[in-house]
Amino acid sequence: FARYAPYIRAINKLKREKNAVILAHNYMTPEIYHGVADVVGDSLQLAIEATKVEADTIVQCGVHFMAETSKILNPAKTVLIPDVKAGCSLAESITAEGIAEMRAKYPGAPVVSYVNTTAEVKAASDICCTSSNAAQIVAAMDSDVVIMTPDQYLAQNVANEVPQKKVVWWEGSCIVHEQYTKDDINAFRALHPDTRIIAHPECPPDVVAASDFSGSTSGIIDYVTREKPSSAMLVTECSMASNIADALPEVDFTGPCNMCPYMKKITLEKILWSLHTGTHAVEVDPEISAKAKIAVERMIDLSR
Ligand code: 13P
Ligand code: SF4
Repeated sequence: FARYAPYIRAINKLKREKNAVILAHNYMTPEIYHGVADVVGDSLQLAIEATKVEADTIVQCGVHFMAETSKILNPAKTVLIPDVKAGCSLAESITAEGIAEMRAKYPGAPVVSYVNTTAEVKAASDICCTSSNAAQIVAAMDSDVVIMTPDQYLAQNVANEVPQKKVVWWEGSCIVHEQYTKDDINAFRALHPDTRIIAHPECPPDVVAASDFSGSTSGIIDYVTREKPSSAMLVTECSMASNIADALPEVDFTGPCNMCPYMKKITLEKILWSLHTGTHAVEVDPEISAKAKIAVERMIDLSR
């Protein structure tokens, strides 16, 4: 950690001088998560926190759709993303035309779009969801058929949880979570029967079924903190276990994990540069932003 200290000091100083706050996702590396973040959380928590920011500038340490969501919810603020190439395979998998295609295929069905989408896609949707409220949002829709985009696996996991709805989906997936297989999980469990296996709902449904618990990134942290299993495998992005391991010395975090190459584009060096130069400021077309805001705020209201 010592080699990061000069960057951490410089970022925290510049943050005060520029009246900026850092909102960081749970997948940020430990030096960002523990060293410079003002707020950490899952996608829903970060969206809610963005609405409360009073500082002039938000530095979004996460991926581009998260920065866009902050800008949509709090447009008067400058929202910076340290690397514009911090994308997301899910957000890249669908456009507003894709939403129109789904609406044409299932007339009258509401569109629930994951927050892992662009502002244009949110604007074309009826409501958003995150991994922590997806089942709740789908259950609340006033229709027997519900369209979920763009994560096919989140949709299939929600369909299992909300059997009263016919959930139809777009065929997108997360490059981090789609790599896990049921056979990997079962083989790991056979070798380590005492390890608690905890999967993110972006994993395929047979992976979730083979696990002991499934939840959003913050749901996973809450579960491990509450249950304190002697050993745990987090079937999600690698930084999750690194970020919480020190606070939970009684838990042995084990097993393979996958890195998100998009999340890993955010580094201390780029955060410092971003604060120093005011780049890259995220802008959203006002008309699109107003429509997208309705979909995100509907989600926040329904999750209370
Ligand atoms: P949550 O933090 O909302 O669970 O989302 C995970 C994710 O992959 C965000 O990119
Ligand atoms: Fe997108 Fe998956 Fe990376 Fe999250 S972990 S940003 S869903 S690619």
